[in-house]
Amino acid sequence: MGVPCLLFCGVSLALPLFVRAVECKDSSVKNEIISVDHPFAFNCTYPPLTSEQVNITWYKPSSKIPVSRNTQSRIHQDESWILFLPMTWADAGIYQCVIKNINSCHRIHVNLTAFRKYWCGTSRNVLPNLSDEYLQTLHFGKDDSLMCHLNFPKSCVLDLIKWYKDCKEIKEERFNTVGMKLFVKNVSAEDRGKYACQARLTHGGKEHTVLNSISVDVKKIEYGDRIPKITYPRNNSIEVELGSTLIVDCNITDVRENTNLRCWKVNNTLVDLYYRESKRIREGYESCVPFEQYNRYTVNITFLQVKMEDYGRHFVCHAGVSAAYIVLKLPVPDSRAYLIGGFIALTGVAVSVMCIYNVFKIDIVLWYRSTFRSTGAIDDGKLYDAYVLYPKPQSGSQRQEVDMMVLKILPEVLERQCGYKLFIFGRDELPGQAVASVIDENIKLCRRLIIIIVPESLSFGLLKNMSEEQITVYNALIQDGMKVILIELEKIKDYTDMPESIKYIRQKHGAIRWSGDFTEESQSAKTKFWKKVRFHMPPTRYPPS
Ligand SMILES: *[C@@H]1O[C@H](CO)[C@@H](O)[C@H](O)[C@H]1NC(C)=O
Ligand SMILES: *[C@@H]1O[C@H](CO)[C@@H](O)[C@H](O)[C@H]1NC(C)=O
Ligand SMILES: *[C@@H]1O[C@H](CO)[C@@H](O)[C@H](O)[C@H]1NC(C)=O
Ligand SMILES: *[C@@H]1O[C@H](CO)[C@@H](O)[C@H](O)[C@H]1NC(C)=O
Ligand SMILES: *[C@@H]1O[C@H](CO)[C@@H](O)[C@H](O)[C@H]1NC(C)=O
Ligand SMILES: *[C@@H]1O[C@H](CO)[C@@H](O)[C@H](O)[C@H]1NC(C)=O
Ligand SMILES: *[C@@H]1O[C@H](CO)[C@@H](O)[C@H](O)[C@H]1NC(C)=O
Ligand SMILES: *[C@@H]1O[C@H](CO)[C@@H](O)[C@H](O)[C@H]1NC(C)=O
Ligand SMILES: *[C@@H]1O[C@H](CO)[C@@H](O)[C@H](O)[C@H]1NC(C)=O
Repeated sequence: MGVPCLLFCGVSLALPLFVRAVECKDSSVKNEIISVDHPFAFNCTYPPLTSEQVNITWYKPSSKIPVSRNTQSRIHQDESWILFLPMTWADAGIYQCVIKNINSCHRIHVNLTAFRKYWCGTSRNVLPNLSDEYLQTLHFGKDDSLMCHLNFPKSCVLDLIKWYKDCKEIKEERFNTVGMKLFVKNVSAEDRGKYACQARLTHGGKEHTVLNSISVDVKKIEYGDRIPKITYPRNNSIEVELGSTLIVDCNITDVRENTNLRCWKVNNTLVDLYYRESKRIREGYESCVPFEQYNRYTVNITFLQVKMEDYGRHFVCHAGVSAAYIVLKLPVPDSRAYLIGGFIALTGVAVSVMCIYNVFKIDIVLWYRSTFRSTGAIDDGKLYDAYVLYPKPQSGSQRQEVDMMVLKILPEVLERQCGYKLFIFGRDELPGQAVASVIDENIKLCRRLIIIIVPESLSFGLLKNMSEEQITVYNALIQDGMKVILIELEKIKDYTDMPESIKYIRQKHGAIRWSGDFTEESQSAKTKFWKKVRFHMPPTRYPPS
């Protein structure tokens, strides 16, 4: 019981599928008007299926019997074609072409109507308005051509093409028959008219005559002289990695009337032909964007995978007489990495140099001065290298220290060892001179101002122990831009009570703190302290004594 039921169920489920698979979709009717007594052929094409393995069968009007495939019969099927050799009045009707493959089926209806074509010399010397009368255009003043459209399967051999114009065979030199084409030189207005092309058709040893009438119009090309313009490429190179995919557009502007061929070529061969086996490099379909004055066409070229052999070749986009190419280039190695590396290295070197310079700045400058010492006095109108300004503290020990420093140690090191000349107030002024004028006159003759400060001098001492004049003078000097060397005899924690100018110098240039003892004998110009001082002093002009 169960098995037949299952079988039945299976069949009833499978049946609709099976039926649907063979059901044919009808396409719209195509109308063809055919001249009797002439061979006629119709190719059954249905774009979505033609690329696949299909079975094409032709059926006569209201018949379930396929058209014969016997090449000897007057009407037969030749591959996808139905062939009438020739057509008769009785053949009119709606023919069906069934295109089948495993999954689908299409039925195309072709309505064939017979008529008699009146040709020159017959009773009616007027060609009727026919659908097989192709309208073609010749362009005024140019060399142009007409095409004889004779569509027959490969089994038909067409030859002995003759061209007629207004019933007369064309024999002029200006016309030239090449294959199915009639070339016309220097088209003139008189070339307008009724043309016909005639050919001999040989099939299976029998000869027939085919005739095709063409109505020809002559048009002036408004922008005919304009040559198509390729806006891109511009004979440029393109950097592309090996093995990558590349798509390049060829952009062309051309007048509408120009029917120029637009394509990509390599080695003067169409790329599609050149790479017809690998299809690695292909031309895309042409797209067209119409503008008021011109059309813009784009045809791209696709490199599925760039190979070594592609580099350096010219891939040329052609549009009529215009051409422009691209050349592929291997990308240059990224130079930025090197640049950044170099920059970092240089920066590192510069920073190191700066560090070294900062650490050894004083030694370098002093060494430089001693090595490239210029002899002879500088002509700057100055008499002294430095003016020494110092406080007179109250407390005994500090006062001693200051005096020791100013009157003994400074002269010992800077004057005796280094060869500077100092003006020390309290040592160098002439007796009886007014303090103010001493300072005023002599300070102008000095290249530097050395100011000695001690902690006590800050809170009460400096102002008290330095005269009013001194303060004004050094203020003026600071304003004049004289270099000031501030020497702290002891660490000074609090500058708040100092005059503004001292604070300013301290903040801007810092101070040199005294290190060492206050004995005249042990002083050497080569200690750190004295090097700092010497560094701020002007270069010596004469060898130290
Ligand atoms: C005729 O149609 C077939 C497909 O049915 C196609 O492959 C062939 O190129 C066509 N021939 C012509 C001359 O158009
Ligand atoms: C086409 O038809 C023939 C015979 O009519 C048949 O042998 C063949 O299998 C068919 N092929 C396809 C793909 O349907
Ligand atoms: C076939 O074509 C003729 C002439 O063009 C027309 O009169 C007729 O109606 C057409 N038949 C169909 C079914 O379209
Ligand atoms: C000829 O055909 C064209 C269209 O193809 C039509 O406009 C014209 O009216 C027809 N002329 C005659 C006389 O039928
Ligand atoms: C083309 O024909 C015209 C006359 O129709 C003539 O004036 C002209 O010189 C010819 N041009 C050429 C290139 O033969
Ligand atoms: C080419 O034209 C297209 C539009 O048709 C545009 O998108 C593209 O950017 C153009 N390419 C170049 C390189 O100018
Ligand atoms: C380019 O074409 C020429 C002939 O036109 C041929 O001799 C040559 O070998 C071709 N070059 C390449 C790389 O195919
Ligand atoms: C290249 O052309 C093809 C075919 O016309 C198209 O499908 C594709 O989109 C185009 N590619 C680009 C990047 O424009
Ligand atoms: C680009 O090269 C072609 C030859 O391949 C040449 O005819 C054209 O004038 C060149 N175009 C430019 C802009 O250099």
